Amino acid sequence: MARDSAMQINPAGRLSVTAENFRTIWLKQDDPTVVQIIDQRLLPHEYAVRDLRTWQDADTAIADMYVRGAPLIGATAAWGLYLAALEDPTPAGVRAAAGTLAQSRPTAVNLRWAVERIMQLVDTSGDNLVARIRNDAQAICDEDVEISRGIGNHGVALLEDIARRKPGETVNVLTHCNAGSLATINYGTATAPIYFAAERGIDVHVWVDETRPRNQGSQLTAWELSASGVPHTLVVDNAGGHLMQHGMVDIVITGTDRTTRCGDVANKIGTYLKALAARDNGIPFYVALPSTTIDWHSRDGIAEIPIEERDPEEVSHVYGVCDGRPARVRTTAQDTPISNFAFDVTPARLVSGLITERGLCDASEEGLLQLFPEMRHP
Ligand code: MRU
Repeated sequence: MARDSAMQINPAGRLSVTAENFRTIWLKQDDPTVVQIIDQRLLPHEYAVRDLRTWQDADTAIADMYVRGAPLIGATAAWGLYLAALEDPTPAGVRAAAGTLAQSRPTAVNLRWAVERIMQLVDTSGDNLVARIRNDAQAICDEDVEISRGIGNHGVALLEDIARRKPGETVNVLTHCNAGSLATINYGTATAPIYFAAERGIDVHVWVDETRPRNQGSQLTAWELSASGVPHTLVVDNAGGHLMQHGMVDIVITGTDRTTRCGDVANKIGTYLKALAARDNGIPFYVALPSTTIDWHSRDGIAEIPIEERDPEEVSHVYGVCDGRPARVRTTAQDTPISNFAFDVTPARLVSGLITERGLCDASEEGLLQLFPEMRHP
């Protein structure tokens, strides 16, 4: 089956991000030396597919956020190592690229996980290194789709439960950033239960946080929910507390870039404030994650998770279209000092539960170990 997501046009003429064979990264159909991605920097204004021909292209795609979202970053690094092997099919050649790719973004642990997985293959003797890496990069993608499906199947129970408790009424979910199909290979993490609920006929509506400064909510989540026909409303980041105070949010579901062994959760900056507001208003705050996002070696998220600091220009400028043309506008004075922390950590005590591909659990070491007993002694 063709994996070119450009082909996933639904009958309404829109890209269908939940189509069974939609992918956010794939090998070019007629040229398997080229990896293709959706250039997410241009959405929602333009849908453009980019070619990655070298591992340096993959590195740039991750660092400059052509692709983003923890699982997709990991998959792109894996395909980057395939491109490195095409150029130099020796363990030394691939190792040189691995060092750089693993550093391209610091917070999402899937990047390190994917690089380590491919490097284990490289360090194991065997024939045809290129084919082995290609197969494993593809396996990482295929597994991610199944993981998201698992998250959706387990997480939908939360939404079904809310729907049962308020028959005839809409189930309102609030989400932050983009933990959707675009952040993974398909279905997303936070969005998978939402998509599955919509498919099962639950009347679900999503409050989409804008997610300054890069606007992954307004530019990506709103776009993909629209493409999938899921009712949603965009709100500014500061609106969540107000919505919760007025009974307009039933549940918050976010993704995560790294979850510690004890259930602390790093996610897009502002997630912690949503968790605080949810706690104050007695609203369940769930985090959806693939097990590839768990950092089994860290315990205290605030102390141990590296928080990426990005270009101040993301804060001082906004990007969009003006009179039909791409436009970049500075909203600050030229000399305003700016800091731009991209992630924050929500302590496990504020998280009602984790939604994983193996089921729901408490945000605690014991909760996670009950689902992943093999990690008791990693
Ligand atoms: O900076 P980004 O866009 O890579 O940040 C993405 C997020 O914070 C997502 O919520 C997270 O990666 C989970 S994606 C399934």
